[in-house]
Amino acid sequence: MSFKVNSNVTWVGKVDWELRKFHGEELSAHRGSTYNSYLVRGPEKTVLIDSVWGPFAKEFLQNLKKEIDLNKIDYIVANHGETDHSGALPELLREIPGTPVYCSHAGVKSLKGQYHEEWNFIPVKTGDKIDLGGGKELVFVEAKMLHWPDSMFCYLTGDHILFPNDAFGQHYATEYMFNDLVDQTELYAEAIKYYANILTPFSPLVTAKIKEVVGMNLPVEMICPSHGVIWRDDPLQIVNKYLEWADSYQENQVTIIYDTMWDGTRKTAEAIALGLKEENPELNIKLYNAARSDVNDIITEIFKSKAIIIGSPTINKGILHSISSLMEMAKGLKFKQKKAAAFGCYGWSGESVGVVNQLLEEAGFELISKEGLKVLWNPDQEAVEAAKTLGREVGKAVK
Ligand code: FEO
Repeated sequence: MSFKVNSNVTWVGKVDWELRKFHGEELSAHRGSTYNSYLVRGPEKTVLIDSVWGPFAKEFLQNLKKEIDLNKIDYIVANHGETDHSGALPELLREIPGTPVYCSHAGVKSLKGQYHEEWNFIPVKTGDKIDLGGGKELVFVEAKMLHWPDSMFCYLTGDHILFPNDAFGQHYATEYMFNDLVDQTELYAEAIKYYANILTPFSPLVTAKIKEVVGMNLPVEMICPSHGVIWRDDPLQIVNKYLEWADSYQENQVTIIYDTMWDGTRKTAEAIALGLKEENPELNIKLYNAARSDVNDIITEIFKSKAIIIGSPTINKGILHSISSLMEMAKGLKFKQKKAAAFGCYGWSGESVGVVNQLLEEAGFELISKEGLKVLWNPDQEAVEAAKTLGREVGKAVK
């Protein structure tokens, strides 16, 4: 498969309908993904921007050869060294050795580190460009830590296309490939999940980079990311969304996340939800059993929340592992300006609430209740009332 993005740019990537886990087993991809590679034909020079994940290298080359004689590719741009975009470079460069590979200085390190090849690297920095002839240029913009040190964007003058690699992408397999053609709810569900799970810790850099690029006053007719659809209809809509998401994003939502052994902590969670609703009827209240839900979907819900309420029963003086692994992930993502509370059932020692409180504070959440709510055995009516009181307290705190 290949298709024309416009008269000068052809998509030569791979739609991966089968993908369900990304970054090993760390990130779910319920709707698959795409690895977008772009062939840019200038008046005099031809450039290939990024490639595809390694398992698809052979297929990628077969398709690419249908589109162009590989020897007519003058330059390769590796906007990012991660293997989902660079994975076909070893195979490609065996066919066209010596072809210049443009990447950031950190890109040289990551590509060498991963493939141990001495390719013809041309390290570039912001403002460097490739002359494609006829006054047309491909201009580079470093995008350090968005989301790797080597990440960079490039911009095609004349066609006014931004190639931002991972930024503005989504893990979303589709044959439509343009933002105006796909289901908007699906598109934005994947775009926000991608931001929440990958870009959240880099939000200050996202804001700064967008301001820097906007400050260049470059017209943008299309944004061609390396995953998911091409933004051609109102392309700046996703840039504006990123500015919103990068600014300690919150919806009017509180999410209760728990794990439970014999239903006591679940019953407590549901009683907390009653109190929340009583105090703050407009709130979008969501409950997730962490052991039975996709962790990345939960992370997306945390991203959207003003506060989270986390529950675990006590086991072996600690907490259930679904909650500890969720909190490890949350800590790394560095959520800002979110409140939290903890609860959990116990039978004898009762450490879980203290453990969750500590994890919440380490992850940067502001505790609404320092004590949290400890429930002995299964909740009786008194405990249900205490849970509702905690719910009301959180409901009030997020008004
Ligand atoms: Fe899509 Fe950072 O790789």
